[in-house]
Amino acid sequence: MSEQAHDTITIALSKGRIFKETIPLLKAAGIEPLDDPETSRKLILDTTRDDVKIVIIRATDVPTYVQYGAADLGVTGKDVLMEHGGEGLYELLDLHIAKCKLMVAGFADRPLPKGTVHVATKFVNCARAYFAAQGQQAEIIKLYGSMELAPLVGLADCIVDVVDTGGTLKANGLVPLQHMFDVSSRLVVNKASMKTRHEVIKSMLRHIESAVTT
Ligand code: ATP
Ligand code: PRP
Repeated sequence: MSEQAHDTITIALSKGRIFKETIPLLKAAGIEPLDDPETSRKLILDTTRDDVKIVIIRATDVPTYVQYGAADLGVTGKDVLMEHGGEGLYELLDLHIAKCKLMVAGFADRPLPKGTVHVATKFVNCARAYFAAQGQQAEIIKLYGSMELAPLVGLADCIVDVVDTGGTLKANGLVPLQHMFDVSSRLVVNKASMKTRHEVIKSMLRHIESAVTT
């Protein structure tokens, strides 16, 4: 690895709401991206700090990049973090952004079957653990998006997905049934980076923390 790469702190972010809501927090640490990922096709963004780069990746890939040290730091939803398992990383800080809830949702007038429940979700690990803890037999059907469609076409009895306003559920004739856990985005760090880059990461953390509003 080049000396420059070794000295650089890499932060993994996803486009969209996490990027938008994280930027004001990074600004408190003097970090401002020099490109806008919504208009640029660049995946590695330089910032106003020579020693900091931002990589733009899918939200679900952030813990993986941080786990393997391809990024030192990352911002990721608690939902994604729980689904990943959190190996190789530490959760440093609740940023209190991108707040929502992970929920079981289905039809208001159709109770879940007593036998095996068919559950469509992209959060297969969370769903499996949740139904097992309830002593409920469940068949988990892995989807990559548009979960709300699954009960409408008979693919599943219910879904496990993030809910904020409930507007997406309502638009598809579904209702929240069970609250699994509250979600907000977290600052995570690679375990090895935390040891080797302790001073610089601690200083960043202090500045970011000062900008967090609950
Ligand atoms: P991927 O691109 O990997 O499919 P995604 O489309 O879920 O991921 P985003 O929609 O940007 O990515 O969501 C990122 C995170 O924001 C989620 O992991 C969750 O923690 C949170 N989130 C998702 N939907 C909402 C919402 N409607 N309101 C608030 N926060 C949300
Ligand atoms: C997310 C999520 C839900 C929706 C919940 O979708 O996948 O479908 O938000 O929010 P609500 O309760 O306020 O309707 P998003 O808008 O991020 O689009 P996506 O499918 O691209 O993730």
